[in-house]
Amino acid sequence: MHILLLGSGGREHTFAWKLSKSKRCTQLFIAPGNAGTSACGQNVPLDPLDFAAVEQFVVRHGIGMVVVGPEEPLVRGIWDYFQERPQLRSIPVIGPSKAGAVLEGSKAWSKQFMQRHSIPTAAYREFSAGQMEEGLAYLRDHALPIVLKADGLAAGKGVVICESHSEAETEFRAMLGGKFGAAGEKVVVEAFLKGIEFSVFVLTDGKTYRILPEAKDYKRIGEGDTGLNTGGMGAVSPVPFVDETMWEMVETRIIQPTVNGLRKEKIPYKGFIFFGLIKVGGEPYVIEYNCRMGDPETEVVFPRLKNDLVQLLENCARGSLGRVKIRTDNRAATTVVLVSGGYPGDYQKGKAVSGLENVKGSIAFHAGTTEKDGAVRTNGGRVLALTSYGKDIPSALRKSKRNAKVVQYEGKYFRRDIGKDLV
Ligand code: AMP
Ligand code: GLY
Repeated sequence: MHILLLGSGGREHTFAWKLSKSKRCTQLFIAPGNAGTSACGQNVPLDPLDFAAVEQFVVRHGIGMVVVGPEEPLVRGIWDYFQERPQLRSIPVIGPSKAGAVLEGSKAWSKQFMQRHSIPTAAYREFSAGQMEEGLAYLRDHALPIVLKADGLAAGKGVVICESHSEAETEFRAMLGGKFGAAGEKVVVEAFLKGIEFSVFVLTDGKTYRILPEAKDYKRIGEGDTGLNTGGMGAVSPVPFVDETMWEMVETRIIQPTVNGLRKEKIPYKGFIFFGLIKVGGEPYVIEYNCRMGDPETEVVFPRLKNDLVQLLENCARGSLGRVKIRTDNRAATTVVLVSGGYPGDYQKGKAVSGLENVKGSIAFHAGTTEKDGAVRTNGGRVLALTSYGKDIPSALRKSKRNAKVVQYEGKYFRRDIGKDLV
């Protein structure tokens, strides 16, 4: 089968790596891909948001499956675009319908969904621009810290945790005043949950689901979880505190009501659900849903997945996931992300990357890289994710960190404490 994978980050390099291992994948195209994905298939200069261009490519190259890495094409309705066109309808798009992608695309909608299905999450209220005064009054009586969330996609910047009432008021006014454009037309005001976060992933065919290995992501730029939020500075899998009792609660209180809720509401969903969870007082709560895999979580989840990914996705598309058994590698996997100097603020691109050929004992997943005149150059905030296996998390991390030192480019930065809080 010819497969088209949409996206260009570390998650997509990991998808490409895993898809290309399958005998069922005879040709893999990655749009637009990066300097790493070109080793797994053919990069094509297509914009994943230009659905007409994707359509043309799919028809011309006899594509049998489209795998969507990032959320934006899904939130904008690429699944529906394929369904609405007779010549595309039989080509599976891995990812939810537009109606399902709202789980990520609208925080207000996802909170309402969780309420409808009694899924544990932080208490909240939502406000729109016409409810400014009501919202401000609600904030004044709210316990600190206060979590404010712009309703729509805001490039990962739409969540602000406010430590004082005055900060909350200023931020609330700014959000409803258009700071995030249409994404902030509604604002969710949420109680702060104190606990430890982890990520759970399922693949669902709309009827049943299969659970993938869990992971823990490190979002802050600084060691000791300090400084600004980033897309993710590293990840580990498994997560030691997610024991059997926790899994039982996650599955019965969160995963099952979510998948059943989507089905009962007749929302087409054949794809990944990413549950951003937090353990509070020994119990799991949902912080957020994503309608795709995580980045950099995929870089540790897929290496631990022994199944043939193409076969798994074919079963998902056909609605026969019930027949599949997930097989997991018992080893731990860790990834350390190398970023550009200045990230998540302003940073420069185009720095020459050297030393990749000396990486031994880790897989170098490319995130923000490009190839120019045969040389690899930086092309994003997150540049590479160095994934390693080990008998346990510390031994895997030693390899990731050793190789993090081997790769060189001007301004390189990485966190040396990924996974340290867990061991
Ligand atoms: P998001 O942009 O939705 O991924 O949220 C960013 C981060 O904000 C999450 O990963 C959490 O660390 C934090 N966060 C969001 N909601 C809450 C909450 N209710 N309580 C505590 N932390 C939160
Ligand atoms: N690592 C968090 C995310 O993918 O949203």
